[in-house]
Amino acid sequence: MKNIIILISGGGSNMAAIVETARRDDWAGRYGARVAAVLSNKAEAKGLVFARSKGITTDVLDHKGFATREAFDEALATRIDGVAQPGEATLVVLAGFMRILTPVFVSRYAGRLVNIHPSLLPAFPGLHTHQRAIDAGCKFAGATVHLVTAELDHGPILAQAVVPVLPGDTADALAARVLTQEHLIYPRGIADLLQKV
Ligand code: GAR
Repeated sequence: MKNIIILISGGGSNMAAIVETARRDDWAGRYGARVAAVLSNKAEAKGLVFARSKGITTDVLDHKGFATREAFDEALATRIDGVAQPGEATLVVLAGFMRILTPVFVSRYAGRLVNIHPSLLPAFPGLHTHQRAIDAGCKFAGATVHLVTAELDHGPILAQAVVPVLPGDTADALAARVLTQEHLIYPRGIADLLQKV
């Protein structure tokens, strides 16, 4: 089995879209893949409730309990690797996981670590993407699914979706429009990757 481990920090709507698509499109039968666990760095992350309701193993690893970024990432990798049986592939999916990962962690999962970012990368890496797009006068915004490399919000692009920025848009309105597209392209990008790992 290929194990998909999804890391979240909040609402987990992208995680839920991946879980629902995996069931609907029979990723187990098609790709030999399953969502094996959902991990969060925040105990109060709402997405954990959804994952548990679907019978998916969940785990919380609070970064505040670690003195360094390196120590947290090492513990995170230990949890992730503990899910797979020897010889099984692991795909690590960042879905609103609001942590910067160390180069050691990133290289450990090179080619198997994927992220979604709410902008048309390489434009607007980092935070507050929607407000920055509005402030810049962008006529289009969107989201990007990409492989994670050591540089934040960079890495080979797997999928993108474009939405219009409408007159009078607030950051929240634009974020909601982008999010509906995220729910389509993230499962699609992961399904493509599952055929390569
Ligand atoms: C999504 O919009 C995702 O693209 C963004 O956080 C949101 C999480 O929503 N990720 C980042 O900003 C990462 N830099 P969700 O928890 O409902 O999936």
